[in-house]
Amino acid sequence: MKATAKAHTNIALIKYWGKRDDTLILPTNNSLSLTLDGFYTTTTVSFRQELKQDVFYLNDEAVTGAAFDRVTVFLDLVRSMAEKPDLFAEIKSTNEVPTAAGFASSASGFAALAAAAARAIGLDLSKSELSQLTRQGSGSACRSIYGGFAEWEQGENKDGSDSYAVQVAPQNHWDIRVAAVVLSDKTKRISSREGMKRTVDTSPFFDGWIGSIPSDLKRIKEGIAARDFTVVGEIAEANCLRMHATTLGAAPPFMYWLDGTVTVMQAVQAMRSEGIPAYFTIDAGPNVKVLYLPENEDVVLQKLRHIPGVQNVTSSKPGQGITYL
Ligand code: DP6
Repeated sequence: MKATAKAHTNIALIKYWGKRDDTLILPTNNSLSLTLDGFYTTTTVSFRQELKQDVFYLNDEAVTGAAFDRVTVFLDLVRSMAEKPDLFAEIKSTNEVPTAAGFASSASGFAALAAAAARAIGLDLSKSELSQLTRQGSGSACRSIYGGFAEWEQGENKDGSDSYAVQVAPQNHWDIRVAAVVLSDKTKRISSREGMKRTVDTSPFFDGWIGSIPSDLKRIKEGIAARDFTVVGEIAEANCLRMHATTLGAAPPFMYWLDGTVTVMQAVQAMRSEGIPAYFTIDAGPNVKVLYLPENEDVVLQKLRHIPGVQNVTSSKPGQGITYL
């Protein structure tokens, strides 16, 4: 009863920002992402009769506290699906994320955990079922089941049975690149979970955000299908700015950006005025992800690395979905 799975992280081009059900993790809007090859998690799960509780090692260190609890609560779901409530597991995870690349590991982490645990306990899940299960660990993780571009369909059912990701275009559809620009790996910040909750509960801009999603989604999918970098970049950048605008309207208001965040955003816009196509997107933190085309890799990376306050820049290509080792 042992299985190993590998999952890559993803970057949202249309953001998931808001839940309609906090327990089942059901979103208030569809989101769309690109899975990245550079950053991944490999997880081995072994269910064993002799264990009295779960044990979890991350990069060879035993994990306790809230991070451990989130993993066991998730495994309870897997156990209940398999009707084996008393079967505990040893979980060993390795995060292959370049030092301080500025990515949360929850997307690749929960996708690898869900895939390995489901297989180890003997559940035979389709990709949609696996995505649905993964969603309940961390919302954004449900998109990492697929390589390339994936859309998380919010669904309508109260039980979440129609809320899972589907593939929009495979990994080899289009070679676009994403640079992760790290400004800070330490800033104490409001988690995405807490930030989106406060926004839903208090921000008067939230309705405007939700209203803007259907047209962004329709146009970005057309842009992806046509490999139109301008369309995809413009929509991704505008969508990110609208998500961050909702946080300024929340009570109390909050923002994820640092001085350096704005400096990088302006540098990306300056590249465009020099004729280099590049666009930014930002998650619930200060670091910036920059989209660009392979033919501009040298100039884009060089410019980003020279911006004052930038700690490091790592680049990534489109990545693959779940694999089993
Ligand atoms: C800003 O997936 O981390 O990165 O479902 O509460 O675990 P939970 O939240 P999480 O939120 C990600 C928010 C985001 C946008 C996105 O990835 O779509």
